[in-house]
Amino acid sequence: MKWAVLISGGGTNLQALIDAVAAGRLSAELGLVVSNRADAGGLARAAAAGIPTAVIEHKDFASREEFDKKLVDTLKSHQIEWIALAGFMRVLTPIFLNAFAGKIVNIHPSLLPSFPGIRAQEQAFESGVKVAGCTVHFVDNGVDTGPIIAQRAVEVVEEDTVETLRQKILAQEHEIFPAVIHWIDQGFVTIDQKGTRPIVRLAIP
Ligand code: GRF
Repeated sequence: MKWAVLISGGGTNLQALIDAVAAGRLSAELGLVVSNRADAGGLARAAAAGIPTAVIEHKDFASREEFDKKLVDTLKSHQIEWIALAGFMRVLTPIFLNAFAGKIVNIHPSLLPSFPGIRAQEQAFESGVKVAGCTVHFVDNGVDTGPIIAQRAVEVVEEDTVETLRQKILAQEHEIFPAVIHWIDQGFVTIDQKGTRPIVRLAIP
């Protein structure tokens, strides 16, 4: 299936996806990389891998809705079906969410539902938790609230700083994100409704 990766920064998670495709561990077709910042380092990673890129700067739009409309039009014009948010620092409106309903996944650097939002690693570090980690989840209309697909934990030890913790979490992100996208691409991931809660079912052969 044809995926777009949305970024705002350095793009190490994008690189992990590119590397996984090259290594034959990820079946997804990475059809487009979109950044909301022209200076995002990830754009060069996409270009080096021969993936088309688009820059849509949010500051050029009067509202979130107008920005999202432009995003949707761009993605549709590239026949994109699925979206991977890889460090994309914009909250999406229903215009975007409805256009790709159930087909948007995000990587977040905490064990959700703990520490949603920005600076998740700092939040975790400052709270004194002994276990931190990352989460890949479907995106709904809340901030980092959608159905959880997979998580990886790391231990927080006394010697850690925010920076070492960030790096430990990032190393896990780089493994789990390509794995989850591969599972989705292969049809191994479905959502069941349990009462009022959607629960993700993984059927990995
Ligand atoms: C990652 O920690 C990701 O979980 C968060 O933003 C960061 C992006 O890093 N959403 P990179 O641009 O992939 O290096």
